[in-house]
Parts: sequence; C-alpha cells; structure tokens
Amino acid sequence: MKKIFIKTFGCAQNESDSERVKAFFAEKGDVFVEDWKEADKAVINSCVIRESAENRVYGLIDKIKKFNPKIEIILTGCLVPITKKKITGVDQMLPIKEISFDLEPLRDKKRAALVTISSGCNNYCSYCIVPYARGKEISRKMEDILKEVDEAMEKGFEEVVLIGQNVNSYGADFGDESSVSMGKKRIKSLFPKLLEEVAKRALKKVSFISSNPWDFSDELIEVIAKYPNIDRLLHLPFQSGDDKVLKNMNRGYSKEEYLDLVSKIKKHVPDVRFSTDIIIGFPGEDEKAFQNTVDVCKKVGFEIAYLNKYSPRRGTVSAKLYRDEIPMAEKKRRWNVLNELVNKKSE
Ligand code: 5AD
Ligand code: SF4
Repeated sequence: MKKIFIKTFGCAQNESDSERVKAFFAEKGDVFVEDWKEADKAVINSCVIRESAENRVYGLIDKIKKFNPKIEIILTGCLVPITKKKITGVDQMLPIKEISFDLEPLRDKKRAALVTISSGCNNYCSYCIVPYARGKEISRKMEDILKEVDEAMEKGFEEVVLIGQNVNSYGADFGDESSVSMGKKRIKSLFPKLLEEVAKRALKKVSFISSNPWDFSDELIEVIAKYPNIDRLLHLPFQSGDDKVLKNMNRGYSKEEYLDLVSKIKKHVPDVRFSTDIIIGFPGEDEKAFQNTVDVCKKVGFEIAYLNKYSPRRGTVSAKLYRDEIPMAEKKRRWNVLNELVNKKSE
C-alpha cells in the first residue's frame, strides 16, 4: 500500500482521465492523500496546451522532488507522447492510453459525473498541439458510455458532462454514411443519437464539451431543443472572427458561417446561452481582424469567453509557418478589451 498524490493539470478530459487513473491505483491497493508532502508517489497528469502549462508541470516536479528526493514521480497525460528527452525527476512514464476505459472512474462526488466519449482529435487547427499529444480521434462504444452513465446515476449523480476534444464528431470513426459540414470533410456523427440517449435518462442536467462550429448539425440542434435537461449554456469556441485568420488557423468556417450557426441555434433553442474560446494575437491579426472578433462578441453576447493569448507551440503548423509577430503588450491590450466587453459585462 502506497500513499499517492494525484495532480491534474489542464482540461476536463484530463480531469476525467485522472478519475480512471485513481481507479487504476486503487485496484493495486494504494490510498490517496491530498497533500504531496505526505505522499510516497506523486502522479502528475500533465497538460501541454501552452508552454506555460508545460512549465508548471516541470515546476511541480522540481518542487516535490526537492522536498522529498525519495518520492516516486509518475508522469502521465499529454506531455508523455510528445516528450523526446528524459524528464529530470520523473521515475516512470505512464501513457494515458494504458489506463483502460473498463475501469470504473473514482469520481469526485462534489460535481457532475464526467464521462469521456472520445479521445484524440483529427482537426489539426494550425496552432494546436492536441492532435499530436492525443493522437487521432477514437470514439468509445455507445453501449459502454451509456453503461457508465447508468452506473454514475446509480451512485447518485444527477448531472453528467460528456467529454471529448470535439464531441460533435463522436462516432465518425465508426465509418457510417458521409456528410460534410463547414469545410471540414467527415463521416456521419452519432453524437445527436448518443446525446438523446443520455438526455432520455432522468438526469437533471446533461452538458457536453467541447463542440466546434463544424458538425453542429440540425439533428443535434433538434435534440437539444427537445430535451430541457440538456444544458442551455453551450460552449462553442470560435477562436477568431476574422476570415483570413480563421483560414490560417485551419478552422474551416467563416465569420458569417459561425454567426449563422449561432442564429440558427438561437431560433430553435430560445433560452440558449453561449460561452466560447478566443485566441488573441494570432499572427496576422491586425486591428481590422481584431475588430471582427469584437464584432462576433457583440453579436452573440457570450456569457463567458475564455481568452487565450496566442503562444506558438513547437511541432504545430502555425509555429512553423508564422512569426509570433504581435507584441505581448498589444495582446494584453486586446485581452482587456474583450474581457471588458464580454466577461465584465456578464459578471
Ligand atoms: N495559443 C493560445 N491558445 C491556444 N489554444 C490552443 N492552442 C493555443 C495556442 N497555441 C486555446 C484555444 C483552445 C483552448 C483549449 O486553448 O482557444 O480552444
Ligand atoms: Fe485543437 Fe482544433 Fe482539435 Fe480543438 S478541434 S483540440 S483546437 S485541433
């Protein structure tokens, strides 16, 4: 029996993974501690979305090892597949792929049950490291997902969050009929069907993250409209409101297409609200381009916008092709403008 401390960096997908990582170690008879100072082993579930996130991982490893040189450090998460060199202080690399979905997650009782429906991403937005860190999109079988939802409900959970890098394309890798939406060519998604099956259950709230503007089909909108227990706060990242920037980001849609989609959703789901992700200061974002982003914010009226200053990630296309030309001070200025416009207003 070992005392284990688990630290999770990054997104909901990592949090969900960590709940299975916990189950993995619990099966071996290990117990968990809240404070790393008391631990024999520290498991670090890492995030690499930005360099600052990666640096926080190294920082924590150093801090823990300095305090207790004998502690065993196990690294898992997004840093494992992309790191080439040995990381000082790390004793074992645990690829997250080795943590089976058959393990029943040890869930955090305080919040909604997180249920991973797919992992990986095939979209290759030019700035994003995720497809390299998590590989191509693989969907879990629908019956397995529903079984997990039922188990969570039996344990008393009343809210479920369905998680994937791009939930709307769930099941496209099963290889059914073809369909194309918003420039990103792909095969038919089974997400509307999955969402409907989950929403039919007596859950108070069903949410999903993240969906992207492409693949947000009419069928999906219908399902959302039909089931009031589906969360009315939709997270729909648009990243930039400028067509040229969107093209260089390889997002596959235009400002107008995004706004049309939002209008369509608003029409069918009258009480819908939106949140979003925006990247500020992507190469080529001049004042006119930035104003297009401001314009989208004004038109949609987001409840929350997660504002990310662009930072080039080694290995991605945008880091290779474009110079990070917008000065930090200007990125900060734009960040403040959007923060005032969206986040302060809705506080
Ligand atoms: N620079 C800044 N923000 C980024 N994101 C992803 N990659 C980068 C990057 N290189 C942001 C996007 C995405 C969110 C999870 O992180 O806005 O939606
Ligand atoms: Fe990254 Fe784009 Fe995939 Fe999201 S959809 S994980 S931004 S490549």
